[in-house]
Amino acid sequence: MAGGLSALGVYGTLKFGFNTSLMPVEHFLTKHGLLKPDDITRLVEHMDQTGDLFGSKIIAKAWTDPEFKSALMKNANKAISESGITVNGIPFQPENYEIRVVENTESVHHFVVCTLCSCYPINLLGNAPEWYKSLEYRYRAIYQPRALLEEFGLTIPQEVKVKVHDSNRDIRYIVMPQAPKKPAGVENLDALVTRDLMIGVRRTLDL
Ligand SMILES: [Fe+2]
Repeated sequence: MAGGLSALGVYGTLKFGFNTSLMPVEHFLTKHGLLKPDDITRLVEHMDQTGDLFGSKIIAKAWTDPEFKSALMKNANKAISESGITVNGIPFQPENYEIRVVENTESVHHFVVCTLCSCYPINLLGNAPEWYKSLEYRYRAIYQPRALLEEFGLTIPQEVKVKVHDSNRDIRYIVMPQAPKKPAGVENLDALVTRDLMIGVRRTLDL
């Protein structure tokens, strides 16, 4: 709950402007035991994870298009703007910050934080999750990165180096996960590239 609105209401208002029309429906379903507040939270989380994101589309394209990947790593804003990629028919809108893509390898795992506040590439990943803005995440990302990742269920082997990137007002990072072994054989590659992979609190794809 926030400001008297339900989770679905808040999400609906932000995304679609339908808060008031759905609140009675949610209230009815909850009252009759057909829906629990946790169900809505989980649904919202799932939608944020797997919705159409520019980030997912550009990573999927980079996996299969070496020329685009090279351009992306050099100047992401320019490469994405020139890629012709759209989300729901809307072209990419560069913001007044530089986007940097960092690539995971067998020996390096990247993940992203904003230690100062909550700088985040909204135009690539949508709204930042609440935990990303928390003091605990921001502090522990720097001082206890491996322990923090463990709490996301991610164990990074000691032989793999962990690199933490501190996004700020001018530069915002996203992580390029390692490509699936046979990307050409996987349909809808972009659906594999979730928000958490691009923040770096996950490392492997759900195949
Ligand atoms: Fe920030």
